Amino acid sequence: MAYTRRMTDVAPLILGIESSCDETGVALVESQASGVPKLLSHALYSQIEMHQAYGGVVPELASRDHIRRVLPLTKQVMAEAGKSLKDIDVVAYTRGPGLAGALLVGAGVACAMGTALGKPVLGVHHLEGHLLSPFLSVDPPEFPFVALLVSGGHTQLMRVDGVGRYEMLGETIDDAAGEAFDKSAKLMGLGYPGGPALAKLAEQGEGTAFKLPRPLLHSGNLDFSFAGLKTAVLTQAQRLGDELEPRKADLAASTQAAIVEVLVKKSLAALDQTGMKRLVVAGGVGANKLLREQLNAACMKRKVRVHYPELHLCTDNGAMIAMAAAMRLQAGQQEATRAYTFEVKPRWPLDAISQSV
Ligand code: KG4
Ligand code: ZN
Repeated sequence: MAYTRRMTDVAPLILGIESSCDETGVALVESQASGVPKLLSHALYSQIEMHQAYGGVVPELASRDHIRRVLPLTKQVMAEAGKSLKDIDVVAYTRGPGLAGALLVGAGVACAMGTALGKPVLGVHHLEGHLLSPFLSVDPPEFPFVALLVSGGHTQLMRVDGVGRYEMLGETIDDAAGEAFDKSAKLMGLGYPGGPALAKLAEQGEGTAFKLPRPLLHSGNLDFSFAGLKTAVLTQAQRLGDELEPRKADLAASTQAAIVEVLVKKSLAALDQTGMKRLVVAGGVGANKLLREQLNAACMKRKVRVHYPELHLCTDNGAMIAMAAAMRLQAGQQEATRAYTFEVKPRWPLDAISQSV
């Protein structure tokens, strides 16, 4: 089934604000007469440099920086799209999950803007933003599909039959894949965020150099576990001692190989289980080159189509929030509200917004 527009509740111009963690993202999306909404402009400010000194995200600093960035970014996207604030029909923001203080900045700004402009607001689920982010690409997917959602906080396999129709097939029972990258990178003394740093170093190493566990690979279900892998990396690093430095690239490559193998095999198992021929990969770890290469190769063999977000839209951004809002409104899944009593949800499972499939 192609993504088609419903003529009810159409709100043409949607401003999206993302502030759940360490990136401030703002974007403008316009609903189309038919088909997928169109991204008009987006702007992003990454706080990575600020948090690097601390080896991870400092929530209070994140909130304060979102406050500084969100209005200048809004001005920028309005100017780039050649629109003015009064053209906006709905102000969408990330309602959760994420850091409470950081979420409150986006929600507060969205509700203040909505009140001032006399326009309704809509709170978006951050993971739904990631999940629907491949619709921002030049080759958007069609429903239904299997989704592999791999971010810093989540690792989930889902059956997706339409907007808001998500069925969880399996998820991590402990660490997320992004967390496994980040924590292993930290153990090796690599920078924050660890995923890209570890992946870069891994390019100079050998993925088979160290034998690391593939947790739950043969569990017979679609759940993941990455906490044991991190411990195995720590044990290896300690065993190597002074020898770690010259073997770091090999350890990084072996860690990446273990994470990627599990993600690929479980994704293939999910495709088998559902009988689907389309896979959508979303979330920050979806930017990983080895993961893309191995998924592409495995899916080509099985005549499965794989869709990814554009590389620069894999990690957090405002475009995915505006897009998810536009798609929810078009699908008649949610209505924007003029009740500006914002409430954020730092913990919020995606199932909570899913209709039964
Ligand atoms: O989706 P995201 O931006 O934030 C969350 O919602 O969590 O994902 C961030 C995660 C981090 O753990 C980061 O290390 C990981 O995505 N990541 C990567 C790569 N780029 C980002 N992991 C592996 N390889 C990459 N190239
Ligand atoms: Zn995210």
